[in-house]
Amino acid sequence: MDLSTRFVFLIDSNEINVEIRINIEEAAKPEDLSAKEQQVITAAKKAAGDAYAPYSKFYVGAALLLSTGELITGNNQENAAYPSGLCAERVALFAANANHPNSWIELLAVAALMKDDFLDDPVYPCGSCRQSLLESEMRFNKPIRILMYGKNRIQIVNSVKDLLPLSFDASFLK
Ligand code: THU
Repeated sequence: MDLSTRFVFLIDSNEINVEIRINIEEAAKPEDLSAKEQQVITAAKKAAGDAYAPYSKFYVGAALLLSTGELITGNNQENAAYPSGLCAERVALFAANANHPNSWIELLAVAALMKDDFLDDPVYPCGSCRQSLLESEMRFNKPIRILMYGKNRIQIVNSVKDLLPLSFDASFLK
């Protein structure tokens, strides 16, 4: 698939406003998803419980399924010097890319715990994580399906590009 064709640009009659459409799927519960997807969500939820987040007390877990079948997890790692910490998604992503440099990511799930309970609504990757995930998606030219878990519903996109429209990438550097 040509990732650059994922967006539909609708230009109104004055050609002033541009509307960007993104596709978001929703599932009411993990059981409505495939067994593989349920496994990745379960791993993300488990990883959230092991996060080191004594400052925000917002415990995030991420799990990735690689093309080779390995499941890699990560969680947020905070620091007394706040900016030295890192989000769950990038901990998992960088571990995957460091240890499996030739494998691409098929699926990523993210879940967050606060006050010993998972959030009701889906948790979304921050902007920096979206940018890092985009790099990985473009490096392998394989879209990453992202499952954002909430107790009430799970939201799903089929490419990082759906989370980061009008993004900056390596093409600008040529
Ligand atoms: N955080 C993540 O790990 N992933 C997200 O998707 C959102 C935010 C972390 C960063 C920080 O440790 C804490 O959550 C509060 O922002």
